[in-house]
Amino acid sequence: MKAISIRKTEQLRGNITIQGSKNTVLPIMAATLLGSGISVIYNCPMIEDVVIMCKLLECLHAKTKLENHVLTIDTREVSYEALPYELTTKLRSSVLLLGPILARWKKVQIGVPGGCAIGLRPIDIHLDGLARMNVDIGCCDGILTGDTSHLQGCDYHLRFASVGATENLVMAATVASGRTILRGVAKEPEIIELCNYLISMGALIEGVGTDTLIIKGTSVLGAADYCNVYDRIVAGTYMLMAAMVPCEICLLGIDDIRYIKNIINVAAELGVNIVRRDNCLKMQSVGKVHGGFFRTGIFPEFPTDLLPVLIAVLIQSEEDSVIEETIFENRFSIIGELRKMGASLTVDDNRVSVQGGKHLQGHTVLATDLRQGAALVVAGLLGKGYTTITNISYIQRGYEDIVRDLKALGVSIEYV
Ligand code: EPZ
Repeated sequence: MKAISIRKTEQLRGNITIQGSKNTVLPIMAATLLGSGISVIYNCPMIEDVVIMCKLLECLHAKTKLENHVLTIDTREVSYEALPYELTTKLRSSVLLLGPILARWKKVQIGVPGGCAIGLRPIDIHLDGLARMNVDIGCCDGILTGDTSHLQGCDYHLRFASVGATENLVMAATVASGRTILRGVAKEPEIIELCNYLISMGALIEGVGTDTLIIKGTSVLGAADYCNVYDRIVAGTYMLMAAMVPCEICLLGIDDIRYIKNIINVAAELGVNIVRRDNCLKMQSVGKVHGGFFRTGIFPEFPTDLLPVLIAVLIQSEEDSVIEETIFENRFSIIGELRKMGASLTVDDNRVSVQGGKHLQGHTVLATDLRQGAALVVAGLLGKGYTTITNISYIQRGYEDIVRDLKALGVSIEYV
């Protein structure tokens, strides 16, 4: 399937079960390399990024099986290999193998990571932190290499609370000699889940959920099972979307709202009435979007990954809005595509102004990254007539089946 065709929708009604989290499961898959044994991960999303991470683990002779949302990883016979550039460039999270491979084999050779083109996305903090842990690290012609006699615990302050660098460094530190203190770390839910998973493998970590992690190195970690949390960005996509069209929607699988409080607040500000009952979020709206000023930020602020969806939703407002992006330099790629549909959007540095009161026209638009692609599908709900989103492999990297989900709400949407 190369494209999605969606027709303007007047009302949304039904239930969606929210898939397991992509950004939680990928680092946990990398972490399985720290132990020897069989790990079972439940509620694993059936998405392309997970498949690529399985291939990378298989390059290291792990055995993986993904069936019916259950992922089994057997690391009993893993052995060292250099990881090919062709695979690592397909996935940003391939960089998360740096820490575990160094921890296990004291050397690493891996192609530079790929991922969505949403900014420069340097990895200097990952490399600087590993260098502070006694790794001799280098990068030449797109290949990263690292060597260490032993990983040494250290006291390191991250210059920015990078999610990926925090994940890499905490994984490396679990088996480093002595104590590692990581200051200024990210506090995203994905970090909390990873730390708790590492603790269940036998790691000694204090300060989980704060901006300082203290890790006491141990020599051996064991395999552990994990039940994945729901994907907060997929849930957030549908929560924001609910503001645009008169609806009654139930999101299932939301057993804990700690990780999405800010998204709930923004959805409520946009005009969605949200009530939580057991593991379900009931959402209702009259389809009148309230505009305003919004800002993305590091957790617990509003997530950058939902910025494109928020832009698409705010076009439906009668009021003008401004959104400020504080994490990535290039998160506005949706703008050109939405302009084709008739949106009036202007960018000034890291702010985008959305002129309200514009009616979108269906058009053929191009997905160029995961979240931008999902936001174009959301915009398609408003475009008069039909909207066709091409290049949908980007969307499939993170959304298990956005067509299935929206069909369940009565949307006329198809793969074409
Ligand atoms: C994670 O990316 C997520 N990916 C991203 O989601 C998410 O947008 C991002 O965190 C921010 O929340 C995964 O978890 C797989 P960062 P990551 O390192 O770890 C700068 C999605 O759509 N930085 O926190 O790559 C960087 O350039 C994806 O699911 C450095 O300068 O993000 C950026 O401006 C897209 N040097 C900022 O920090 C470094 O060494 C945040 O990046 C590392 C990062």
